[in-house]
Amino acid sequence: MLRGLTIFFLTLKLAAGADPATHGDAVPDKSWNQTRTFSDGGTVTDEPFGIYGHQPVRLYTLTNTNGVSVSIMDYGAEIVRILAPDRNGKLGDIALGYDHFLPYIASSHYFGATIGRYANRIAKGRFTLGKTVYQLPLNDGPNSLHGGTRGFDKRRWETEPVDSDTPAVRFTRMSPDGEEGYPGNLYVSVTYSLNNANELRIAYTATTDQPTVINLTNHTYFNLGGADTILDDVVTIHADSYTPVDATQIPTGEIKPVEGTPFDFRAGQTIGARLKEAGGKPVGYDHNFVLSKGWFSNWAEAAEVIDPKSGRTLTVSTDQPGLQFYTGNFLDGTGPTGRGGQVFRQYDAFTLETQHYPDSPNHDNFPSTVLLPGDTFTSATVYAFGVEK
Ligand code: GLA
Repeated sequence: MLRGLTIFFLTLKLAAGADPATHGDAVPDKSWNQTRTFSDGGTVTDEPFGIYGHQPVRLYTLTNTNGVSVSIMDYGAEIVRILAPDRNGKLGDIALGYDHFLPYIASSHYFGATIGRYANRIAKGRFTLGKTVYQLPLNDGPNSLHGGTRGFDKRRWETEPVDSDTPAVRFTRMSPDGEEGYPGNLYVSVTYSLNNANELRIAYTATTDQPTVINLTNHTYFNLGGADTILDDVVTIHADSYTPVDATQIPTGEIKPVEGTPFDFRAGQTIGARLKEAGGKPVGYDHNFVLSKGWFSNWAEAAEVIDPKSGRTLTVSTDQPGLQFYTGNFLDGTGPTGRGGQVFRQYDAFTLETQHYPDSPNHDNFPSTVLLPGDTFTSATVYAFGVEK
């Protein structure tokens, strides 16, 4: 109830544009209000999608020469829609979202959003850097989730044109020192591009002027069948181990083999096959997989999903060490109605969030998420949309 009221008032406040602290309210470059064609034949179209902070929200649609398109708005640098072909070449919408802008402000599901500064959970919202203990807002029981009460998903980003052969758009933000409790002025960018191989690339950079922690991801909910159940989708995850969690979804610190558990997706299994055995409250997959990497490169295929009915496939490749596989367990049929009148229910979609492990700042045995002044954080993930042969 309290959570509902808080979201309601936050929505009113945000919609009214009371947003003096954000650096993202600059008027978007008017020259973008058109379709630009790139040298590979793809296009980016810019259109208004709503009003936020007295300024239009811009929606950028990247379209390649196959007609595949990805629409992203400058609020939350968030994917709103993905149109990809099924085995008969018919385009369908495979990303959960809303028809209009306003429900995105109220939504607590992070549909399509860029998540920062720290994707996933930090135990008790607390971590130490040097001699300083930092306290973050607690917005997920006793923990801090997805950057806090108002993370990157609830901020307007600035837009920059990109010098690229393929359709692309770049969003940037200056996240001020102390925002949501995190230290350092953080300058962050996320660039989306779509090539004619139907590959959506999401690339991030960040720099800071004080030691800080960072973990960025994208939170698109995929349903490859459009609105079908995901339980029959066949998922392969290239991970020999995962990070078990406690009752509040904080890693115990253990790196546990998936062998003999419901988390063994190495040979491919349907989402529904062992979902109940995965446990959790609510029941379902919501776990970080430790990705297997090659000897010479961090870049590797992380996962593949096949929707047998539509024939659509999704392949995820990344340089990140972890992958959160989440089956929409918290979607409970409440909240604003989605595109095409869809009511969002449990297991209506899955996310494959490439990331560092949850709560890394509090686990010395996990890859480090510390970013120091003078260093540049970079990371990239490719979502490739295909069809079963
Ligand atoms: C992530 C988390 C989930 C949930 C969703 C958003 O995937 O791991 O527990 O919080 O985001 O609802």
